[in-house]
Amino acid sequence: MNILILGSGGRESAFASKIAESSLLTQLFIAPGNAGTSAYGKNINLNPTDFEGIADFVLKNQVKMVLVGPEEPLVKGIHDFFLNRPDLMHIPVIGPQMHGAQLEGSKDFSKQFMIKHGIPTAAFKSFSKDTLAEGLTYLETQKLPIVLKADGLAAGKGVLICETLQDAQTELKAMLADAKFGEASSTVVIEEFLTGIELSVFVLTDGKSYKILPEAKDYKRIGEGDTGLNTGGMGSVSPVSFADATFMKKVEERIIIPTIEGLKKDGIPYKGFIFIGLMASDSPQGREPHVIEYNVRMGDPETESVLPRIESDLIDLFLGVAHENLAEKELKISHKIAATVMIVAGGYPGDYAKGKEIAGIENLRHSTAFHAGTVLDNGMVKSNGGRVIAVTSLQDNLFDAVQCATADAGRIYFDGRYFRPDIGVDLMELS
Ligand code: AMP
Ligand code: GLY
Repeated sequence: MNILILGSGGRESAFASKIAESSLLTQLFIAPGNAGTSAYGKNINLNPTDFEGIADFVLKNQVKMVLVGPEEPLVKGIHDFFLNRPDLMHIPVIGPQMHGAQLEGSKDFSKQFMIKHGIPTAAFKSFSKDTLAEGLTYLETQKLPIVLKADGLAAGKGVLICETLQDAQTELKAMLADAKFGEASSTVVIEEFLTGIELSVFVLTDGKSYKILPEAKDYKRIGEGDTGLNTGGMGSVSPVSFADATFMKKVEERIIIPTIEGLKKDGIPYKGFIFIGLMASDSPQGREPHVIEYNVRMGDPETESVLPRIESDLIDLFLGVAHENLAEKELKISHKIAATVMIVAGGYPGDYAKGKEIAGIENLRHSTAFHAGTVLDNGMVKSNGGRVIAVTSLQDNLFDAVQCATADAGRIYFDGRYFRPDIGVDLMELS
């Protein structure tokens, strides 16, 4: 069958690489893709939110399944668009409809959902422009640090952790009264600050049953030792050593099952991935999971560590999602360990240059390069984004995976390139 992947990052490269292995694939298209995805399929110059353009392409090219990489087309309703068109409704879209996508599209919606279904999460209260004064007073009663979250999508920048009351009050005013994040901050969730270790848990569901995919840890800050500015993610590791059977049982019983059942009870259809961002907090009973956020897609750069560990045919699993017989499918997971090191442009996550010639991709010894922000220019691979190439190594132990991915990242060069040399090191100390 012909498959179309929407998106252009490292996540979509990892999907393309896995789907290209499937015996069920006839032709793969990636819209818009990057310099690396063209090794697995055909790049199509279409924006993932150009629904009409996608519809035309899908019909002309006998595409039989659409996998949506990023959240934006889902929150904007691409799945609903397909279901509402008689000529497209038979083509499965992997990714939820608008209603389910609100789990990521609205922090207030997702917090209300968690409270309603008894899913452990940080205490919170939401405020709008009309209740700004109450919000400012509420902040006076809260412990510090305190977390402010713009309700809507804010390109990953809508979460602020405030250390002082003054800072929190200034930011709340900026978000609600001065629309700091535009429409996205017309409602703000004020949330208790959780301490512990973060990890990402991924679930694939057909709306009836679910499969728990390999979990991963993401390294969010730009600097060594997880310091400096927040980024889209500087690397990842899967599995996560502390997410043992006891911890994952808590996650499944307290979070995953109530989430799937909650969607059913609320009449929210859901076919796709649920990415649960968790904080594992220390307690006398061991590590306790709390939900920080839901995303309605896979994580990036987590996907680059998660997919290499999946041994089952990904298209077959997606067919299970489409036909609502996921329960009958087998999910085989490798016991090997994957580490991903993200190579970024100098200056990222602030201003950075594009168009730098990239050398050495062919020199990787023990890893795979998943292109993220790259473009082909006259046959030359050039940088075209902040996160440029994810380097993933799958090995028998964490030490080797991290060593190989980091050494191979060093073999790729472009002017100003940077990567963190300490991905996975904290997990070695924990295990
Ligand atoms: P997000 O943009 O929603 O992914 O949030 C960015 C980051 O903010 C998360 O990955 C956490 O590191 C941090 N964060 C969000 N909510 C909380 C919270 N309640 N307590 C502590 N850290 C948080
Ligand atoms: N790595 C975090 C995300 O994809 O949102």
